Amino acid sequence: MGDRRVDLAEIKERQQRAWASGDYAVFGAALVIMSELLCEAVDLRPGQKVLDVATGSGNTALAAARRFGETSGIDYVPALLERARERAAAEGLEVDFREGDAEGIPFPDASFDVVLSTVGAMFAPDQERAAGELLRVCRPGGRVGLTNCTPDGFAGELGSLFGSYLPPLPRPEAPRALGHGRAAARAPGRRGRRSADLTAELRVPLPLRGPLI
Ligand SMILES: C[S@@+](CC[C@H](N)C(=O)[O-])C[C@H]1O[C@@H](n2cnc3c(N)ncnc32)[C@H](O)[C@@H]1O
Repeated sequence: MGDRRVDLAEIKERQQRAWASGDYAVFGAALVIMSELLCEAVDLRPGQKVLDVATGSGNTALAAARRFGETSGIDYVPALLERARERAAAEGLEVDFREGDAEGIPFPDASFDVVLSTVGAMFAPDQERAAGELLRVCRPGGRVGLTNCTPDGFAGELGSLFGSYLPPLPRPEAPRALGHGRAAARAPGRRGRRSADLTAELRVPLPLRGPLI
């Protein structure tokens, strides 16, 4: 158990360094359509309190704010949050961007009507913990909407290829379980009760165009 925690912490530290290097915001602009589709999928309404977990440069938070959601976004890379603030200012949108970890979301229980993450929370090394946090900050009867890569898509296959050259993960399913609702189904809800039902899974090809793809 102790070893497992150390391993997961090390994985996260490396991930964080990777997300902070280069300029993810440039690549992230290609994912805007995913954020817009996710906001439509959860039928976001004006005035709803919305949290975008692992917001990066703000794609999904901005999509929610464009629909007049009262929006917050968290990420563990401060430089990306700066880009998100610049983008919000450019569009005249109000979003509360703050530093935070998907495995320890810095908001009280039941703070939001809608909790979203676009290819973000799926990277958390401890999938059950992250799923538990998404559920915890969502009010009873609220909605959690996730956009995730699938194991049999391009990103999933690339991950498997890399994984075949790496030491085994502390848990075989990390960091993929969230993508298929398995971690959410297992995560403890408030007061230990399971508090979510997986109601829909929509598979959409990743609309990416780029020199490598
Ligand atoms: C592929 S990017 C997606 C960013 C954004 N959601 C978008 O749609 O462009 C993954 C993001 O997840 C963030 N991230 C990964 N693990 C995280 C964690 N445990 N806590 C907070 N942010 C995390 C990274 O910093 C990065 O910004």
